[in-house]
Amino acid sequence: MQKQTHSFELTIFNDIEELSLDDKSLLLRAVEARKKAYAPYSKFQVGAALVLENGVIVIGNNQENACYPSGLCAERVAIYHAGANYPGERIRTLAITATSENYAVDRPAAPCGNCRQSISEYEVKQGTPIRILMMGETGKVLQCESVADLLPLAFDDSFL
Ligand code: THU
Repeated sequence: MQKQTHSFELTIFNDIEELSLDDKSLLLRAVEARKKAYAPYSKFQVGAALVLENGVIVIGNNQENACYPSGLCAERVAIYHAGANYPGERIRTLAITATSENYAVDRPAAPCGNCRQSISEYEVKQGTPIRILMMGETGKVLQCESVADLLPLAFDDSFL
């Protein structure tokens, strides 16, 4: 028997102003995307913006549905758009931001489990890490270097 400890490095910025210019502008694209979310049920708007290795930025936002499970998170709207339209391009960084009509979201919103699994698929496929930036409406920005950090012991194609 043995025990292992798995840990990862999380970078915490005090606010968006501490980011590099490129990361700040990507996160601001996510903020713009967030404003166009379709979230009439949860009133929780999420925006995502990812940058591809060719420099193209793809955005997504949550798309809800009266049949709740038929809706889709912002992150998956963005990565599936990238997968559909730029299948050969690696994803470098994915920025995520969230706000609510019910309260002030002053802490970062991390991707849900389904989104982590979906982003992981593309990270495994492309063979290079996808950085994740996370922010609420205001406040701290979290950065992790790979989606694998957020999904340890992931299920992937090696099992199939
Ligand atoms: N949502 C996202 O868009 N991304 C996440 O990672 C978490 C949740 C959306 C789904 C739903 O429209 C709303 O937020 C409330 O769960």
